[in-house]
Amino acid sequence: MPLTIAIDGPVGAGKSTISDEVANRLGILHLDTGAMYRAVGLAATGAGIDPADEKAVSALCEKGGAQVDIRYENGKQITLLNGEDVSSRIRTQEAGGAASAVSRYPAVRTMLVRRQQEMAQEQPMLLDGRDIGTVVLPHATVKIYLTASPEARARRRMDQLREKGDQTPFEEILKEVNARDYQDMNRALTPLRQAEDAILLDSSDLNFEETVSAILALVEEKYGH
Ligand code: DC
Repeated sequence: MPLTIAIDGPVGAGKSTISDEVANRLGILHLDTGAMYRAVGLAATGAGIDPADEKAVSALCEKGGAQVDIRYENGKQITLLNGEDVSSRIRTQEAGGAASAVSRYPAVRTMLVRRQQEMAQEQPMLLDGRDIGTVVLPHATVKIYLTASPEARARRRMDQLREKGDQTPFEEILKEVNARDYQDMNRALTPLRQAEDAILLDSSDLNFEETVSAILALVEEKYGH
Protein backbone atom coordinates (compact mmCIF):
# COMPACT_ATOMS: atom_id res chain seq x y z
CA MET A 1 0.00 0.00 0.00
CA PRO A 2 1.38 3.47 -0.86
CA LEU A 3 2.25 6.02 1.85
CA THR A 4 -0.93 7.45 3.37
CA ILE A 5 -1.07 10.32 5.84
CA ALA A 6 -4.31 11.03 7.69
CA ILE A 7 -4.81 14.44 9.27
CA ASP A 8 -8.03 15.00 11.21
CA GLY A 9 -9.07 17.71 13.58
CA PRO A 10 -11.60 20.37 14.45
CA VAL A 11 -12.46 23.47 12.46
CA GLY A 12 -9.83 26.21 12.47
CA ALA A 13 -6.88 23.99 13.41
CA GLY A 14 -5.22 24.96 10.10
CA LYS A 15 -5.59 21.48 8.57
CA SER A 16 -5.92 22.63 4.97
CA THR A 17 -2.95 25.00 4.72
CA ILE A 18 -0.72 22.82 6.89
CA SER A 19 -1.67 19.72 4.85
CA ASP A 20 -0.96 21.51 1.59
CA GLU A 21 2.53 22.44 2.74
CA VAL A 22 3.39 19.03 4.23
CA ALA A 23 2.24 17.22 1.05
CA ASN A 24 4.15 19.67 -1.10
CA ARG A 25 7.39 19.12 0.81
CA LEU A 26 6.94 15.35 0.64
CA GLY A 27 6.14 15.54 -3.08
CA ILE A 28 2.79 13.77 -2.68
CA LEU A 29 -0.80 14.80 -3.44
CA HIS A 30 -3.10 16.34 -0.84
CA LEU A 31 -6.79 15.50 -0.87
CA ASP A 32 -8.93 18.04 0.98
CA THR A 33 -11.96 15.84 1.68
CA GLY A 34 -14.01 18.76 3.03
CA ALA A 35 -14.08 20.09 -0.56
CA MET A 36 -15.98 16.96 -1.62
CA TYR A 37 -18.69 17.47 1.04
CA ARG A 38 -18.88 21.11 -0.02
CA ALA A 39 -19.40 20.03 -3.65
CA VAL A 40 -22.30 17.76 -2.66
CA GLY A 41 -23.77 20.65 -0.66
CA LEU A 42 -23.56 22.78 -3.78
CA ALA A 43 -25.15 20.02 -5.87
CA ALA A 44 -28.13 20.03 -3.51
CA THR A 45 -28.67 23.79 -3.43
CA GLY A 46 -28.04 24.01 -7.19
CA ALA A 47 -30.80 21.43 -7.76
CA GLY A 48 -33.17 23.46 -5.57
CA ILE A 49 -32.96 20.91 -2.74
CA ASP A 50 -32.87 21.96 0.90
CA PRO A 51 -29.62 20.47 2.34
CA ALA A 52 -31.63 19.63 5.46
CA ASP A 53 -33.84 17.28 3.41
CA GLU A 54 -32.05 13.93 3.81
CA LYS A 55 -34.40 12.00 1.52
CA ALA A 56 -34.05 14.41 -1.39
CA VAL A 57 -30.25 14.75 -0.99
CA SER A 58 -29.84 10.95 -0.80
CA ALA A 59 -32.04 10.46 -3.88
CA LEU A 60 -29.96 13.02 -5.77
CA CYS A 61 -26.76 11.09 -4.91
CA GLU A 62 -28.28 7.74 -5.78
CA LYS A 63 -29.38 8.86 -9.21
CA GLY A 64 -25.88 10.24 -9.92
CA GLY A 65 -26.81 13.91 -9.70
CA ALA A 66 -23.93 14.77 -7.37
CA GLN A 67 -20.92 13.33 -9.18
CA VAL A 68 -17.78 14.55 -7.41
CA ASP A 69 -14.42 14.13 -9.12
CA ILE A 70 -10.97 15.36 -8.21
CA ARG A 71 -8.27 16.34 -10.65
CA TYR A 72 -4.82 17.75 -10.02
CA GLU A 73 -3.21 20.55 -11.98
CA ASN A 74 0.44 21.14 -11.06
CA GLY A 75 -0.23 19.37 -7.77
CA LYS A 76 -3.20 21.62 -6.98
CA GLN A 77 -6.59 20.05 -6.28
CA ILE A 78 -9.41 20.87 -8.69
CA THR A 79 -12.84 19.82 -7.43
CA LEU A 80 -15.37 18.90 -10.11
CA LEU A 81 -19.12 18.60 -9.67
CA ASN A 82 -20.88 16.85 -12.53
CA GLY A 83 -17.87 17.66 -14.70
CA GLU A 84 -17.78 21.37 -13.78
CA ASP A 85 -14.89 22.99 -11.89
CA VAL A 86 -16.42 24.25 -8.62
CA SER A 87 -13.13 24.83 -6.73
CA SER A 88 -13.93 28.51 -6.05
CA ARG A 89 -17.70 28.23 -5.68
CA ILE A 90 -17.38 25.75 -2.80
CA ARG A 91 -15.47 28.30 -0.69
CA THR A 92 -18.49 30.36 0.32
CA GLN A 93 -20.10 30.44 3.76
CA GLU A 94 -23.27 29.03 2.18
CA ALA A 95 -21.47 26.02 0.68
CA GLY A 96 -19.84 25.40 4.08
CA GLY A 97 -23.25 25.37 5.77
CA ALA A 98 -24.70 23.06 3.10
CA ALA A 99 -21.65 20.76 3.45
CA SER A 100 -22.13 20.54 7.19
CA ALA A 101 -25.78 19.48 6.66
CA VAL A 102 -25.23 16.90 3.89
CA SER A 103 -22.18 15.39 5.62
CA ARG A 104 -24.59 13.86 8.18
CA TYR A 105 -26.21 11.52 5.63
CA PRO A 106 -25.09 7.90 5.09
CA ALA A 107 -25.74 8.07 1.32
CA VAL A 108 -23.36 11.01 1.02
CA ARG A 109 -20.66 9.62 3.30
CA THR A 110 -20.69 6.17 1.67
CA MET A 111 -20.30 7.67 -1.79
CA LEU A 112 -17.47 10.03 -0.84
CA VAL A 113 -15.57 7.68 1.48
CA ARG A 114 -15.43 5.06 -1.28
CA ARG A 115 -13.99 7.58 -3.72
CA GLN A 116 -11.42 8.77 -1.16
CA GLN A 117 -10.30 5.19 -0.48
CA GLU A 118 -9.93 4.50 -4.20
CA MET A 119 -7.76 7.57 -4.67
CA ALA A 120 -5.50 6.69 -1.73
CA GLN A 121 -4.96 3.22 -3.18
CA GLU A 122 -3.66 4.59 -6.44
CA GLN A 123 -0.84 6.84 -5.20
CA PRO A 124 0.89 8.13 -2.07
CA MET A 125 -1.40 10.73 -0.54
CA LEU A 126 -2.15 12.98 2.38
CA LEU A 127 -5.85 13.24 3.22
CA ASP A 128 -7.31 15.76 5.62
CA GLY A 129 -10.80 15.74 7.09
CA ARG A 130 -12.73 14.59 10.14
CA ASP A 131 -12.89 10.80 9.72
CA ILE A 132 -9.74 9.91 7.78
CA GLY A 133 -7.89 8.06 10.56
CA THR A 134 -11.05 6.49 11.97
CA VAL A 135 -13.02 5.47 8.85
CA VAL A 136 -11.44 6.29 5.47
CA LEU A 137 -7.91 5.00 6.12
CA PRO A 138 -7.89 2.98 9.35
CA HIS A 139 -4.49 1.58 8.27
CA ALA A 140 -2.90 4.89 7.30
CA THR A 141 0.88 4.98 7.62
CA VAL A 142 0.74 8.07 9.83
CA LYS A 143 -2.31 9.44 11.65
CA ILE A 144 -2.33 12.88 13.15
CA TYR A 145 -5.02 14.59 15.14
CA LEU A 146 -4.26 18.26 14.68
CA THR A 147 -5.92 20.51 17.19
CA ALA A 148 -5.53 23.74 19.11
CA SER A 149 -7.47 25.30 21.96
CA PRO A 150 -10.78 26.92 20.95
CA GLU A 151 -9.27 30.29 21.95
CA ALA A 152 -6.20 29.81 19.73
CA ARG A 153 -8.38 28.74 16.79
CA ALA A 154 -10.74 31.68 17.32
CA ARG A 155 -7.76 34.05 17.49
CA ARG A 156 -6.43 32.77 14.14
CA ARG A 157 -9.87 33.09 12.59
CA MET A 158 -10.10 36.63 13.96
CA ASP A 159 -6.74 37.54 12.39
CA GLN A 160 -7.96 36.25 8.99
CA LEU A 161 -11.20 38.23 9.29
CA ARG A 162 -9.39 41.42 10.35
CA GLU A 163 -7.23 41.17 7.23
CA LYS A 164 -10.45 41.31 5.23
CA GLY A 165 -11.64 44.28 7.28
CA ASP A 166 -14.18 42.21 9.22
CA GLN A 167 -14.52 43.42 12.83
CA THR A 168 -16.60 40.55 14.29
CA PRO A 169 -15.86 40.56 18.07
CA PHE A 170 -13.60 37.82 19.45
CA GLU A 171 -16.33 36.48 21.77
CA GLU A 172 -18.66 35.93 18.83
CA ILE A 173 -15.98 34.06 16.83
CA LEU A 174 -15.17 31.91 19.85
CA LYS A 175 -18.86 31.07 20.23
CA GLU A 176 -18.99 29.94 16.56
CA VAL A 177 -15.87 27.77 17.00
CA ASN A 178 -17.41 26.10 20.04
CA ALA A 179 -20.72 25.56 18.22
CA ARG A 180 -18.99 23.93 15.21
CA ASP A 181 -16.98 21.70 17.59
CA TYR A 182 -20.17 20.60 19.27
CA GLN A 183 -21.88 19.87 15.95
CA ASP A 184 -18.90 17.95 14.50
CA MET A 185 -18.29 15.93 17.66
CA ASN A 186 -21.90 15.05 18.41
CA ARG A 187 -23.38 14.05 15.07
CA ALA A 188 -24.73 10.51 14.94
CA LEU A 189 -22.65 9.22 12.05
CA THR A 190 -18.84 9.11 12.43
CA PRO A 191 -18.47 12.13 14.68
CA LEU A 192 -15.10 13.84 14.88
CA ARG A 193 -12.86 12.02 17.32
CA GLN A 194 -9.21 11.16 17.64
CA ALA A 195 -8.36 7.67 16.35
CA GLU A 196 -6.83 5.55 19.09
CA ASP A 197 -3.56 5.26 17.23
CA ALA A 198 -3.44 8.89 16.06
CA ILE A 199 -0.75 11.20 17.35
CA LEU A 200 -2.16 14.27 19.06
CA LEU A 201 -0.56 17.47 17.86
CA ASP A 202 -1.67 20.60 19.70
CA SER A 203 -0.63 23.64 17.69
CA SER A 204 -1.91 26.25 20.19
CA ASP A 205 1.62 27.46 20.86
CA LEU A 206 3.19 26.53 17.50
CA ASN A 207 3.45 28.73 14.43
CA PHE A 208 2.91 27.48 10.86
CA GLU A 209 6.50 26.39 10.26
CA GLU A 210 6.78 24.68 13.65
CA THR A 211 3.57 22.74 13.00
CA VAL A 212 4.71 21.66 9.51
CA SER A 213 8.10 20.58 10.88
CA ALA A 214 6.48 18.62 13.70
CA ILE A 215 4.35 16.66 11.21
CA LEU A 216 7.29 16.03 8.87
CA ALA A 217 9.28 14.73 11.85
CA LEU A 218 6.45 12.32 12.72
CA VAL A 219 6.27 11.08 9.11
CA GLU A 220 10.03 10.59 9.06
CA GLU A 221 9.90 8.69 12.33
CA LYS A 222 7.12 6.35 11.11
CA TYR A 223 8.05 6.03 7.47
CA GLY A 224 11.72 6.92 7.61
CA HIS A 225 13.17 7.42 4.18
O1 DC B 1 -13.20 21.18 6.34
P1 DC B 1 -14.38 21.84 5.68
O2 DC B 1 -14.90 23.04 6.46
O3 DC B 1 -14.16 22.19 4.25
O4 DC B 1 -15.55 20.74 5.72
C1 DC B 1 -16.85 21.03 5.29
C2 DC B 1 -17.86 20.16 6.04
O5 DC B 1 -17.70 18.79 5.67
C3 DC B 1 -17.70 20.21 7.57
O6 DC B 1 -18.91 20.66 8.13
C4 DC B 1 -17.44 18.81 8.02
C5 DC B 1 -17.66 17.94 6.81
N1 DC B 1 -16.59 16.95 6.62
C6 DC B 1 -16.81 15.67 7.05
O7 DC B 1 -17.88 15.40 7.61
N2 DC B 1 -15.87 14.72 6.84
C7 DC B 1 -14.72 15.00 6.24
N3 DC B 1 -13.81 14.03 6.04
C8 DC B 1 -14.44 16.33 5.82
C9 DC B 1 -15.41 17.29 6.03
